[in-house]
Formats: sequence, C-alpha cells, structure tokens
Amino acid sequence: MRQLPKRRESAGVVDAKAPLEERIADEARFFKAWFENPGITGAVSPSGRALARTMARYVDPASNGPIIELGPGTGPVTQALIQRGIAPERLVLVEFDAKFCRLLERRFPGCQIVQGDAYNLARTLDGQLEGPAAAIVSSLPLLNKPDPERLSLLDQAFGLMQFDGCFVQFTYGMVSPIPRRARSAPRILFNAEPSPPVWLNLPPARVWVYRRATEKLPARKSAGDALIFKLRERRDKVREEIRETAERVETQFKAGKAKARQQFELRARRVREDKAIKPALALLRKIGEPKKRRGL
Ligand SMILES: C[S@@+](CC[C@H](N)C(=O)[O-])C[C@H]1O[C@@H](n2cnc3c(N)ncnc32)[C@H](O)[C@@H]1O
Repeated sequence: MRQLPKRRESAGVVDAKAPLEERIADEARFFKAWFENPGITGAVSPSGRALARTMARYVDPASNGPIIELGPGTGPVTQALIQRGIAPERLVLVEFDAKFCRLLERRFPGCQIVQGDAYNLARTLDGQLEGPAAAIVSSLPLLNKPDPERLSLLDQAFGLMQFDGCFVQFTYGMVSPIPRRARSAPRILFNAEPSPPVWLNLPPARVWVYRRATEKLPARKSAGDALIFKLRERRDKVREEIRETAERVETQFKAGKAKARQQFELRARRVREDKAIKPALALLRKIGEPKKRRGL
C-alpha cells in the first residue's frame, strides 16, 4: 500500500461537460488498463454520467465524516460526488492502479488518495481515516470474486462506517453482487436495496445499497421468537428470489418476442416473394376487393 501525498489546496474538478478530447483520453486510458489487467479493471470503459450520478445520490452531503470511494479509476463517480456537494477533503479514494492514482491526484487535488487493495480494506485504511465513514461507494469488479471475499469486503466496510452508514455498489448483473450468505464466511446481517436499472449506461447497470440490519438475532429468547425471526428471514429471501425470477422471465420474454417477430417477418417476406405464391396472392387480393367495397 502506498500513501500518496494529501494535497488540500484546491478542489480541482473536471468540468461535467469535459472536453471531448479528455473523455476520449479517459476511454483510451481505461481500455489500456483493462487490456493489461482485465480482472482488476473489470470494464472496458469508465462509467457514464447517469450511473455515476445514481451512485452519488445515495450519499447524503449533510452527513459527517469521511466518504470512501473504492476503485475510482479515472474519477467519474468522484466527480459526481463532488458535484453532489461533498467537499473533496472528505473523500478518501482507494485505487489499486498506480497510473489511475496519479491521474486522480492531478484531477482531484483536494482528495486523499490511497493506493492499495480495497479487498483488504481494514488494513489498507488502517490509520488513514479521521473518524468513522458516513458512506462507502464502490465500483470494484465484485463479480469475479468468490462469495466469501465479497462478504468479507462488506463486513470490513461496516467496520469502518458509522452504524447508519451505507455501502453503495454498482453491478451489470441482474442480482445483488453481495450474496446474503456464503459457506465459510462470517454471517452478516444486512439489508439490500436495488435502484431501478440505469438504462443510459452502456451496458445498463444497477446500483445496490447495503445497510446494517437493525433486526438482531433474538438473544436466546423464546423458541417462538427464534422461529419468527427465521420465518422473516426466509420471507425476505423468497421475495428477493421472486423479484430476480420475474426480472429474468421478463428479459427472456422480451428477447423471445423480438425473435418471434423477426422470424415471422422473414417468413412473410419469403411468402410474398415466392414466385409460385405471388399469382395466387394477386388472385386472392382481386377476389377480396369487391367484398371490401361492399363493406363485407
Ligand atoms: C469497473 S472500474 C470502475 C472505475 C470508475 N469508478 C468508473 O466507474 O468508471 C474498477 C476500478 O476498480 C479498481 N480496482 C480493482 N480492484 C481493486 C482493488 N482490489 N483495490 C482497489 N481498486 C481496485 C480498478 O483499478 C478500476 O479502477
């Protein structure tokens, strides 16, 4: 882990309508990083503004304490956070890639930039925070990590945040990128809430917000309480499964409908263009005309 100098002289923010050359340069930087290390970069281009703004919307600028960003890359989410009204001095950016760190340092001189491994968050940020964080916003490519590692990240994040702090994560996947539980991982009680899909991003994405669950395991109360708790938990899981299945079915249905229409149009064209059928169609049209005129 390398601690980069913390500069506080100005809140250098790239204009929201960054010049085209700058955006193209970011695309090129990102693509190069992905080409060199696809597992770490996790995407071929930076997040679009709509997605970055959706992520930032979950962070309350009126909160107190640091805001941690994991995997800022070229900084689209950092910029959205600053535009939301969060002072750059409150932002702690944890990025693995040294080139991205140097770019972030130039682009956001007021922010604290920590080069290190976000999956080892507690260690990477040991002694770096001025107090418990208000929120953690992550763009880490979680889907290529095993379930216990994702849960461990959330566990560490909760450990660094205020009790009501939220962990914000985007995903291109259909379901929560943090599983409810995993074998060989400590059990964490949390609530997960998805945003509507962000269709304006390429590919479309969704933002998930995780908070500590306020409901606690009954401290060896009655067997009835424990049963109710288990049933509630099961109910939440079933609800989540139903929602996921409905989304999957809807996507499959839409794809099926588009395919069927395409096939139908292809067949109709073939029939219309078939030399043997053409005269018969012309005849049918002729027979149908007087009927139409008579209003039949
Ligand atoms: C999908 S990109 C997102 C970049 C940017 N936030 C955006 O939305 O365009 C993932 C970023 O996470 C960084 N990253 C991946 N693994 C990391 C790790 N273990 N610790 C810190 N950063 C990591 C990558 O270098 C990359 O910048």
